[in-house]
Amino acid sequence: MVQPIKSQTYPLLPLRGTLVFPYMVTPLEVGRVRSIEAVEQTMLRDGRIVLAAQHLVATEDPQPEDIYDVGTLCEVKQLLKVPEGQIRVLVEGISRVNLEHIDDAEGYYEAFVTPVPETVGEMDRYEREALMRIVREEFEKYVRLGKKIPAEVLLTVSSIEDVHRFADTIASQLNVAFKEKQRLLEIFPVDKRLEAILGLLYREGEILSMEKNIQQRVRKQMEKAQREYYLREQIKAIQMELGERDERGSTEIDELKDKLEKAKLPKEAKAKVLHEIHRLERMAPMAAEATVVRNYIDWMLALPWSKRTKDRLDLNVAEELLDRDHFGLDKVKERILEFLAVRQLTKSSKGPILCLVGPPGVGKTSLAQSVGTALNRNFSRLSLGGVRDEAEIRGHRRTYIGSMPGRIIQTLKTVGSLNPVIVLDEVDKLASDFRGDPASALLEVLDPEQNHRFGDHYLEVPFDLSEILFITTANVLHSIPPPLRDRMEVIEIPGYTEYEKFEIARRHLWPKQLKSNGLTPEQLQISDNTIYRIIHEYTKEAGVRTLERRLGTVCRKVATEIVKGQTQSARVTVSNVHKYLGIPRYHQSQANTEDKVGVATGLAFTTVGGEILSIEVTVVDGKGKLTLTGKLGEVMRESAQAALSYLRSRAAELGIDPKFHERCDIHMHIPEGAIPKDGPSAGITIATALASALTNRPVRHELSMTGEITLRGRVLPIGGVKEKLLAAHRAGITHVLLPVDNEKDLEEIPSSVLGKLQISLVEHMDEVLGHALYPVAESEGPLPFMLPNLPAGGEPWMGERT
Ligand SMILES: Nc1ncnc2c1ncn2[C@@H]1O[C@H](COP(=O)(O)OP(=O)(O)OP(=O)(O)O)[C@@H](O)[C@H]1O
Ligand SMILES: [Mg+2]
Repeated sequence: MVQPIKSQTYPLLPLRGTLVFPYMVTPLEVGRVRSIEAVEQTMLRDGRIVLAAQHLVATEDPQPEDIYDVGTLCEVKQLLKVPEGQIRVLVEGISRVNLEHIDDAEGYYEAFVTPVPETVGEMDRYEREALMRIVREEFEKYVRLGKKIPAEVLLTVSSIEDVHRFADTIASQLNVAFKEKQRLLEIFPVDKRLEAILGLLYREGEILSMEKNIQQRVRKQMEKAQREYYLREQIKAIQMELGERDERGSTEIDELKDKLEKAKLPKEAKAKVLHEIHRLERMAPMAAEATVVRNYIDWMLALPWSKRTKDRLDLNVAEELLDRDHFGLDKVKERILEFLAVRQLTKSSKGPILCLVGPPGVGKTSLAQSVGTALNRNFSRLSLGGVRDEAEIRGHRRTYIGSMPGRIIQTLKTVGSLNPVIVLDEVDKLASDFRGDPASALLEVLDPEQNHRFGDHYLEVPFDLSEILFITTANVLHSIPPPLRDRMEVIEIPGYTEYEKFEIARRHLWPKQLKSNGLTPEQLQISDNTIYRIIHEYTKEAGVRTLERRLGTVCRKVATEIVKGQTQSARVTVSNVHKYLGIPRYHQSQANTEDKVGVATGLAFTTVGGEILSIEVTVVDGKGKLTLTGKLGEVMRESAQAALSYLRSRAAELGIDPKFHERCDIHMHIPEGAIPKDGPSAGITIATALASALTNRPVRHELSMTGEITLRGRVLPIGGVKEKLLAAHRAGITHVLLPVDNEKDLEEIPSSVLGKLQISLVEHMDEVLGHALYPVAESEGPLPFMLPNLPAGGEPWMGERT
């Protein structure tokens, strides 16, 4: 058995990165010269040697202070010399020792050691037993997890009963850093050492199970990635077989993703499209749903999310361009230039929406187009006439095949830039037959506060409309829904005067028509008078559209003649214009050439501009019936009633039989009976015609008038003064009666017209009659209805009146 241990000197073998516990039998390789010498010295003595670890593994030639103070006294069991001068020894630990001091002997170290007696600690037997059991259990778990410790060790350990041996055996088996093992070596009471071992076992157990988890997870991931890769390759192969993938191996999906990257969509939209692409990827290509999704993606990718054109900022150039394309319209052009200037200074795209209002063919659309050219922006026109469904503006929800974005978004796609000029034509036709309320959808489009996030139902993500310059056009203002009108700055373009029409024809329409019919100015000439003739007799309009068409007809006819070889050039004159245009279509309504009783000339304002309107009244014997014909509207009928009541109340002063309403029928007719007429502005004209008929005093033929009448005979202001005066001028009227309150409107009248008209401002019907009627001719007999022409039967008149 083991010999008792004394404090004495033994050869010392410094260990690197390992140590030997008591009771353990361990093989060691010894290579360092000093160490070999120490082993050899041992063999010369009693075969015992001190093994102690050095602090640092890397130290090749340790000094005494590099070695731990606690080591193990061992017995060399075997010694084997291997080639290259090394030796292999098998040692068995005997006891812990304290290294008191280390001395350098000849060629090796010697250590003077004192043995450390084996102590237990403060636990009682059972406690210690319990601790041992726990340690044993944990050790078993540790061995199972670790796989590095042979299973026999477990057997050995389970059979150890001595607590010291048990503790050291387990300590030596632990797979921990040697420094931690050294710590265990230095804990002398075995209870404490077991506790430390248990701590290490817990910690290591934890780490090992974590390792295991990580391993498993990583392995799973690897397997999944490999599986997916494999499946994808298979899909690719299948797709290639089916022809869904081109030779480069890219699919439609790849192409879509590619396009998406290039399209520079805002974040929100991009996320949405990506989501849809992923959905599409998972669908069967022939599924109906896939078509819907693909369509949607195509739409999204085709929109100009971030494409802009660069604005032309030079206002002088803009002005030049506007002047080049349009004659006159000075006020409108000025307003447009102001608008552009302000937009430029404020650097903001926000601003009022322009609304050009005027009769057809006055150049609203083409002026708006010129704004586009002047700004160097893309241009598009969107007609709102007849739009009755909100979805036309805002699009359909993407629920079925064939649903589409609204017209605004469609237009943007065609235009291809984010900041075009868009003309919304005919906004006034929108409200007249709306069903889904497109007008309120338009509010969002036109409101600068809202339209940077315009929500189209189809797109589902907001689109920025704020950089679009919207210009709207309308024929009449009153049928634009008020909230819409409120968002727009109205610029009125009234009809043209004859002179303006002539100039437009000379400068623009004629050259344009020549060119588009392939003629040169040498081949076809037209005289100024002919142009006037065409304006008068072949057109009837406020604008110049028909005029342009008539000029086109002339050009076409001449082009045919030239091609047929009948002529080489032509000149259109007043005398041969009918050859090209046929007989005159319109007879210019001309002022009456003689004064008549019961006929007064009024001025009307229609969608084609101003017109003169003659009002005829006949009074016959009867029972007080008032007949109104000529397709008169409600308001005009009421005007007639009012005029009649006024005359009754003034009968005495005017010299009319106070009972005329009982004794005669009155028939009032306004010619051109098929054309509906309405409005209050014929009031004073109706009253004049009635008064003339009732008093038998003729109306002055060169005079015409307009104004609303009240029951008291006051004359109220009316609209459309410019158009009406132009019409009067055209018709050869020389004297016009206007309500006093319309005086301000005279500013807008071209002086060429004003110079030829005598304008009288009237406030009361008495003044009107004073201007209009000739004084009573003394020689004339009693008025027809004043004749005692009563029916013989003497039937009562009352009660049959209508
Ligand atoms: N002042 C003008 N100078 C030159 N050409 C003009 C002028 N006014 C109108 N035109 C020409 O008349 C034609 C008709 O004009 P446009 O189509 O713009 O009318 P519009 O006012 O939009 O009518 P609508 O209300 O019917 O839409 C165009 O060819 C236009 O170039
Ligand atoms: Mg138009």
